[in-house]
Amino acid sequence: MAAKNERSSIKPLPLAERAHMALDGAAIDAARRSLDDGAVTPSYGPWRQDIIKLLNDSLATELVCVLRYKRHHFTADGLASPKIAEEFLVHANEESGHADRLARRIVQLGGEPDFSPDSLTKRSHAAYDDASDLKAMIKANLIAERVAIETYSQIIALIGDKDATTRRLLEDILSDEQGHADELKDWLAD
Ligand SMILES: [Fe+2]
Ligand SMILES: [Fe+2]
Repeated sequence: MAAKNERSSIKPLPLAERAHMALDGAAIDAARRSLDDGAVTPSYGPWRQDIIKLLNDSLATELVCVLRYKRHHFTADGLASPKIAEEFLVHANEESGHADRLARRIVQLGGEPDFSPDSLTKRSHAAYDDASDLKAMIKANLIAERVAIETYSQIIALIGDKDATTRRLLEDILSDEQGHADELKDWLAD
C-alpha cells in the first residue's frame, strides 16, 4: 500500500515548467567559422589539450611496446617455442597499428603526435625489456599489457562523454590489449 501511495504522490510537472531539449544555435553558427579547427567544433569543451596529452602518453606506450615485442621476437627465435616468437611479432604489429590510430586522432584534434625517441621511455606507461629467457619475456609482456589495460581503463573513465570518438578508439584498443594479456597468461601457464 505504501508503494501505491508514494507513486500517486508524484505529479508530472506542468508543461510550461518542463526543461526543453534545445540545440545551441550560437554554437552551430560558431561551427561555420574557425575552419582551421577542422573536426573540432565548439561543443568539444575545454579538454582538448588534456586529451591530446593522454593520447601522446599512450602513443609513447604503444611505441615502447612495439620495440619490446620486436626485441623479443628476434631473440626468442631460437628458444623453446618458435610459435611464441612468431606471436611476439603479431603483437608488435598490432601495437604499431594502435600507435598509428592514436597519432591520427591526435592530429585530428589539432595536436602533434610526439614520436621523439629521447623521451619515449619516460612518457611510456609500460617498460621496455631485454630479457633473454622466454618465460621472463612472456612475464614482462604480461606486466606491460596489464599496465596498458589499467591506464586505458582509467583514461576511458576520465574521458567519459567528453569525446565519444576518442573513447570508442580507446575502447577498441583496450579490448585488443585484453586479448594480448589473455594469450600471455596462457603461455605463462604452459
Ligand atoms: Fe597496444
Ligand atoms: Fe598489447
